[in-house]
Amino acid sequence: MLGGTELKVCVLGLGYIGLPTAAVIARTGAQVLGIDVSPHVVETVNSGRVHIEEVDLDGLVSGVVARGSLRASTQIEPADVFVIAVPTPFGADHVPDVGYVLKAATAVATVLKVGDTVILESTSPVGTTEQVRDFIAELRPDLKVPGRSSGGHADVAIAYCPERVLPGRILVELIDNDRVIGGITPRCARRALHFYRRFVRGACVTTTARAAEMTKLTENAFRDVNIAFANELSRVAETLGVDVWEVIRLANRHPRVNILQPGPGVGGHCIAVDPWFLVHGAPDDTQLIRTAREVNDAKCDHVIARASALIAAHPGVPVACLGLAFKANIDDFRESPALKVAVALAQRFGSRVQIVEPYADTLPSAFDGTGATLVDLDDALERAGVMIALVDHDLFRSVPLEERCDKHVYDTRGIWPDQPAVADSRAMRLAS
Ligand SMILES: NC(=O)c1ccc[n+]([C@@H]2O[C@H](COP(=O)([O-])OP(=O)(O)OC[C@H]3O[C@@H](n4cnc5c(N)ncnc54)[C@H](O)[C@@H]3O)[C@@H](O)[C@H]2O)c1
Repeated sequence: MLGGTELKVCVLGLGYIGLPTAAVIARTGAQVLGIDVSPHVVETVNSGRVHIEEVDLDGLVSGVVARGSLRASTQIEPADVFVIAVPTPFGADHVPDVGYVLKAATAVATVLKVGDTVILESTSPVGTTEQVRDFIAELRPDLKVPGRSSGGHADVAIAYCPERVLPGRILVELIDNDRVIGGITPRCARRALHFYRRFVRGACVTTTARAAEMTKLTENAFRDVNIAFANELSRVAETLGVDVWEVIRLANRHPRVNILQPGPGVGGHCIAVDPWFLVHGAPDDTQLIRTAREVNDAKCDHVIARASALIAAHPGVPVACLGLAFKANIDDFRESPALKVAVALAQRFGSRVQIVEPYADTLPSAFDGTGATLVDLDDALERAGVMIALVDHDLFRSVPLEERCDKHVYDTRGIWPDQPAVADSRAMRLAS
């Protein structure tokens, strides 16, 4: 039962969230089965290896697989706790797609039994956990589901607990971060809380499923709105001929001001996606949140225009685009503005464009047919006359001024404060 060493846990979705979660739970002595629809993922995990880049994950997975605490399958089996960590993208017009969640819930329903706990961890629109509950109720009329049976008694517990880990620190933050645990009923929340206490050192706070769902979306919308402010400032500063990085540094000396850093847009599968779930849920009440999304998306188009102007102003000169990931020091290119910019430049300028991305072995398929090539940083520094810095990887930050002072640089991340301002910025302004 819960808390005992023989606890059986089934984690559905073995991606950036599910695999580390499964491995951390397995380390507590629970028997963990990881489910994924991808046979490649299942084979990789069963051989004790990992298919994603995350600090220390390879050692942990190989250890718990070797000990027999973690195994993977495409087929679900009975368990005491089910954790759902499948994707929640949006479809056309930014409408949230909870299809993966409902498919996972369907699988859970086939093996669910009295006393089990189902926890949704996927970032979800408000009301999704109730939708999962209704889905299970329909598929399993033999079970009393929470919040729908008279007298308050239910055979199973259903809860929502969002994930707020930072890629690159997932194994640390899975344990140290505070958790918000939302139950369909208070009893469901307490059951889920008991489970998380096995491995979470941070505070575990219980609430309703709807409040927990909205809390997660609120966190990412807060980040998005604040980044939009910085991105808007960067455009104002360009227009007014001021260095935005300096302005932000100076403004942040005010004791109650803390402006974030601008960049080429906002990427990833969280901050660039989740605010739309709030917009979709309350379209008439989300003017600011929607506008922030639009400001951040427009910044990416603006960077493409300015970079294109800089490249066009130097005909025939080789160009290096530094970075494709959606943020520093990770291998995740989903919804990446850097990738969008680099692909647009490669489509326009072809084989003049060289890509440097220390976290890629090959170029993503979006570059097919463009003529762009993947090179290492040394090659790029040797050959390129124009450099577009798109990601603040530590490797790029460490390039000293003497290796870039002879180049035309567009630094979209502010990683090189010592880069001399050149006439290029005027050319870019005029052309964009
Ligand atoms: N990656 C992050 O940093 C992060 C942070 C917070 C929240 N989240 C949220 O966590 C959820 C998962 O994100 P992720 O980054 O781990 O995604 P991911 O794409 O890395 O992994 C999801 C995995 O689920 C598998 N899958 C799809 N449908 C399935 C099904 N029906 N049954 C079993 N497996 C299935 C996929 O094959 C994939 O391996 C999303 O809702 C995301 O928004 C992610």
